[in-house]
Amino acid sequence: MTSYICAIDQGTTGTTVIILDDTLEVVGRVNEEFEQIFPKPSWVEHDPEAIWRSTCSTIKAAVAQAGVRPEEIVAVGITNQRETTVVWDGKTGEAIHNAIVWQDRRTRGRIQQFADDGNEPMVRERSGLILDPYFSGTKIEWILDHVSGARRRAQKGELKFGTIDSFLLWRLTGGKVHATDVSNASRTLLMNLHTGEWDEDLLELFRVPRAMLPEIVGNAEVYGHVEGIEGLADGTPICGMAGDQQSALFGQVCYRPGEAKCTYGTGAFLLMNTGDKPVMSRHRLLSTAAWKIDGKMTYALEGSAFIAGALVQWLRDGLGFFETAAEIEELAGQVESSDGVVLIPSLAGLGAPHWNPGARGVIWGLTRGTTRAHIARAALEAIALQNVDLLKAMEHDLGEELKVLRVDGGASANGLLMQLQADFLNREIVRPKMTDTTALGAALLAGLGAGIFSDFNAISETWKEDARFKPAMSQQRRNMHLELWEEGLKRV
Ligand code: G3P
Repeated sequence: MTSYICAIDQGTTGTTVIILDDTLEVVGRVNEEFEQIFPKPSWVEHDPEAIWRSTCSTIKAAVAQAGVRPEEIVAVGITNQRETTVVWDGKTGEAIHNAIVWQDRRTRGRIQQFADDGNEPMVRERSGLILDPYFSGTKIEWILDHVSGARRRAQKGELKFGTIDSFLLWRLTGGKVHATDVSNASRTLLMNLHTGEWDEDLLELFRVPRAMLPEIVGNAEVYGHVEGIEGLADGTPICGMAGDQQSALFGQVCYRPGEAKCTYGTGAFLLMNTGDKPVMSRHRLLSTAAWKIDGKMTYALEGSAFIAGALVQWLRDGLGFFETAAEIEELAGQVESSDGVVLIPSLAGLGAPHWNPGARGVIWGLTRGTTRAHIARAALEAIALQNVDLLKAMEHDLGEELKVLRVDGGASANGLLMQLQADFLNREIVRPKMTDTTALGAALLAGLGAGIFSDFNAISETWKEDARFKPAMSQQRRNMHLELWEEGLKRV
């Protein structure tokens, strides 16, 4: 009898569920978007119930589409938008505030205070992260300080904190399991990267009561069992869990130190496997946990660009440039170049390596002849150009050049973007056949956790190349773009 795996990818703008058979053939895939809430400029929230509803309905629809019986699904994996913070009541399971999304900048002032008080070196050394509102720590503190009675209740253990992995695990197990995996925990500012445990000093600094925190677990093991979810049988093990970017690194089978991938989702996230020791960046990248399997930690270096696919969405929804995101390729392809137009996509501040939470976006170099096509092309260039800064920083940290970069995520289907990426990086880009790599990673982890796959080698063999993009731009033209980009950054 064939066994199937259900992978839940709870992303920033939508939830995707894929059902795979034990040869990793996708037999069902459903995606559903949900509402983004912007209560004030630079604030971003999600309704946890909307996240939960989209999770339940996509599970049900994907299982129906796959035409499999619930009992045939033998493992469930979860991957998620990271850092997004939920605090819920341990008795009722209801959130006490909307989820504060990773892109939210409301704790900017608080972060500045922590930096002014000289905390950055200690935070960096312990957590591997930078002081920035991106991470969960100050978001938890904000909720506890702004919801009446919350801090007291958290201290008494009545409230639970979780990133989305943890929130979904809690709900999928009928409120029985409160855990988070090490990759998600490493994004909270509260975990000691070296020990993989919550760090008492960091908890004290960010004023987070220990009693509300989930247990930190590995990435491929049985955490609990499904209870009362339509489409899945009660008792199905949930046995794989990772933050979406680490999950994509796993799905791209980057299992050896030096192997790297870039996922183009809402943002673009470049991660490189650095082996069994964290590499502390000297160029303001993040050191993060990649995964912990069989008790063994693997680390990664990460460059996070907050806006990638979200820029295309903004051109679509904010400016009405086109009906569907895929149309940007055709529009941008109508012109040979962006004709000196530069777009700096800091719509949610600037991430690595600049870390400027107050930055706003810039479109610069407009003339009377500028058309939508030039701006669309400048947008694709911007998505690719921000990765140049990240890759450069990564290579400086490691003291060696990357040969090939693996790419995935929705926008990796855009051939023009991938060619620009290869051109600007001056590196070969390889795209796999399966570009839902985030969900694939969760499926692989769950498969390992359930014992469907025996080891990493067996998984590596399943990775198949789809396309390769080779640098074709002249050095002169590349330099011109890089100089304009630098100029644009100065205007932010
Ligand atoms: O750190 C944020 C990241 O996990 C969000 O990923 O795919 O929703 O852009 P995505």
